[in-house]
Amino acid sequence: MSETEVPKGLSGVIVDETAICTTDSTGNLLYRGYKAVDLAERADAADVAYLLINDRLPGKDEQDDFHRKLMKFAGIDSRVSEVIRIMKEKDIMRGLRSLTSLYPYSSDDRQDLMLEMAARFPRFISDTFRTAKGEEPLPDVDAPYAERVYYLFTGKRDSEKARLLNKLMVLYMEHEFNASTYAMRVTASTEADPVSAFVSALATIKGPLHGGANAEILDFFLGFRNEQEARDYVNRKIAAKEKIMGFGHRVYKERDPRAQFVKEQLRKMDQDAHMFRIAVAIEEEMWEKKKIPANLDFFAAIYMHMLGLDQDLYTALFAASRVFGWIAHFNEQMEHNKLIRPSSKYVGKTGREF
Ligand code: CMC
Repeated sequence: MSETEVPKGLSGVIVDETAICTTDSTGNLLYRGYKAVDLAERADAADVAYLLINDRLPGKDEQDDFHRKLMKFAGIDSRVSEVIRIMKEKDIMRGLRSLTSLYPYSSDDRQDLMLEMAARFPRFISDTFRTAKGEEPLPDVDAPYAERVYYLFTGKRDSEKARLLNKLMVLYMEHEFNASTYAMRVTASTEADPVSAFVSALATIKGPLHGGANAEILDFFLGFRNEQEARDYVNRKIAAKEKIMGFGHRVYKERDPRAQFVKEQLRKMDQDAHMFRIAVAIEEEMWEKKKIPANLDFFAAIYMHMLGLDQDLYTALFAASRVFGWIAHFNEQMEHNKLIRPSSKYVGKTGREF
């Protein structure tokens, strides 16, 4: 890079090393060396969370201990419940960000504190969502992680749908230096506490170019009566030079392996379903006209709709999964911490007299 070249958005800039996650030369996303799609197919979300944090899959005792810790933090402080009742916050991510910040956590140990935050996310999300609708919070259940999340998000016990949600949670869990993780690492690098670092991450994941994208997809998607209407929409957006949510990615320029995995799950569920056919038509049209691939959020939004999750919860589900990646990255940052403070190329005025 020449001295004056400034890669906007740090595009292509390697800012640090990581041993947590990467995309290999054939486009596979790897978590600690394992293919993320293989883990999504076969592993329990809590085991993958453990893997990301500890660099190895848990044995039986470690599994039990991890589950026990997550369940230990399932309850909620009554004062915070009162805040939720007063707030009646409709924007779930705003609620999650605020509650994460103000919660009186009980753990002194930093690792436990981060697990405590992660374990409380589904509770904060569920209570905020239900209270805004005028419904009572749900009692908790002692269940495998994705099953608990499915129940808290929908109010239903459904092990088959929870099994499918488990796959998506695994795929959402980690993606190296994505915007929210990097924001979290910047905050962590100042030696701020994990709560502050995770609030930075939550503030960042909320944006529509990152985690907020999945919440906007159904807005345009559900209205199409047939494939032609969907293709026409794509062409109108392209002509207007407007972005279509759920397409494009900083890392995947040809194929997002996570998106293709979820697409295959949707095909298995019902390849003749109206929504699936519309999705494929949009994907084909975008590729034909712009050579831009669908990203995970595009198929994930349809998948979550099929699983019965309310659209208001989509970004929150992403955050409730990615939080385990944040824990791994917080630890990695602090292992060899150096303040993250890049430089800028000054393009402003000089020499002004006062
Ligand atoms: N629809 C239409 N055109 C697009 C899209 C899109 N979704 N994404 C990129 N482009 C075009 C863009 O306009 C630009 O065209 P040109 O060169 O003519 O100006 C070109 O493709 C390169 O785009 P870019 O925005 O410079 O690429 P980037 O690597 O900076 O952006 C992105 C990546 C995700 C911000 C962008 O693709 C985008 O805004 N997508 C829509 C939002 C979205 O779906 N976000 C979820 C990302 S996946 C989940 C996650 O990790 O958060």
